[in-house]
Amino acid sequence: RISSITAHEILDSRGNPTLRVHVGLDNDIRVSASVPSGASTGANEAVELRDADKSRYGGKGVLKAVANVNTLIAPELVGRDPVRQADIDALLLALDGTPNKARLGANAILGVSMAVARAAAETSRLPLYAYLGGPGATRLPVPMMNILNGGKHADNSVDFQEFMVMPVGAPSFAEALRYGAETFHMLAKILTKKGYATSVGDEGGFAPNLKSNEEACELIVEAIEAAGFAPGKDIAIALDPAASSFYADGAYHLAKSGQGLKSSDDMIALYQRWIDAYPIVSIEDGFDENDWGGFAKQTATQGGRIQIVGDDIFVTNPVFIQRGITEKTANAVLIKLNQIGTVSETIQAIGLCREAGWRYVISHRSGETEDAFMADFAVAMGGGQIKTGSACRSERIAKYNRLLEIEGELGAGAVFKSPFELPDRRQ
Ligand code: PGA
Ligand code: ZN
Repeated sequence: RISSITAHEILDSRGNPTLRVHVGLDNDIRVSASVPSGASTGANEAVELRDADKSRYGGKGVLKAVANVNTLIAPELVGRDPVRQADIDALLLALDGTPNKARLGANAILGVSMAVARAAAETSRLPLYAYLGGPGATRLPVPMMNILNGGKHADNSVDFQEFMVMPVGAPSFAEALRYGAETFHMLAKILTKKGYATSVGDEGGFAPNLKSNEEACELIVEAIEAAGFAPGKDIAIALDPAASSFYADGAYHLAKSGQGLKSSDDMIALYQRWIDAYPIVSIEDGFDENDWGGFAKQTATQGGRIQIVGDDIFVTNPVFIQRGITEKTANAVLIKLNQIGTVSETIQAIGLCREAGWRYVISHRSGETEDAFMADFAVAMGGGQIKTGSACRSERIAKYNRLLEIEGELGAGAVFKSPFELPDRRQ
């Protein structure tokens, strides 16, 4: 039984306030969970409650959300059985009473939901991934490692937010991590040689002032090869332009790189050129969150060849995902626990993906903490893909290190395989 729930304010990886929630059980188990926070957020995400008190953290404090946990949520949950996750999450929704978790705050609700899951795993004497995923939870995810940052995550000349390497040809998670880390280090050498900065952005990828967005792809292919790997076979490329962040008045503004205005069709043509020239297997948010038509057109023309992932457009919300499935808007979903706000609703969103034969990628936020909940969650859900940053910054590495630990624990039972059928691009 739950005997105590308390929250307090901590800082995320950008130095902004977020919540940590502690749950105690009457058998003396005590666990905690911390809540991440995005920068290029979707308009329809569940509400992240902030104090708006300008005298603290520029208004970004979360003391109201903390108080909601301590005074409104805790009294309702004390005495309840933590293994009844669905009931507890339903109760949290009822207690909030709004469609977007605006009263209690999705940050308050998610912290409780995650900590309850962790307490239930502990009391069941199971690792979190096995508790949430059952005995079949043996698949380690292929990491999408964001080694070059732009957009809202970096103060540089690159419009597209994320250029990621995906070690799809590695034999294990540990080897995949090594492939990605070695490529990251090689990219540093190449950038230095070319006179570019090797300072990093919010997710630990380099943030150089490149001459164009496309140069990022060229440099990454060069780094993959120089590190001794085969582009497209050992390591593929995944992109997250996060196009909502540069869309305004019906056009895509490639302003940071000075490459001008693009229409939706121009963007499709740009992606097509890149797909032909580079070993790209996945594009996330290639279009604005309201450009359902652009997404659908890309899915119709390029979806047979690459993964089309919706992040800001679906916001891990079953309602938007269902619309996407009906309208063939994409063929994959980016899954972020804090976009929707409870563990149960996140699992429900993944259920929709599975039924539709869509892929799903478990994802961090650009503002993270040392909590590696999502690493266990990715193994539990078994989708075979995780997006959790570059090969530096401890809030990213915490997730990778937890996955290494899980792979070791599963031993010979661990499964690692690419989610993609890959054409051999090496000629
Ligand atoms: P965010 O970015 O956490 O800043 O929203 C991550 C993403 O767009 O995938
Ligand atoms: Zn995204």
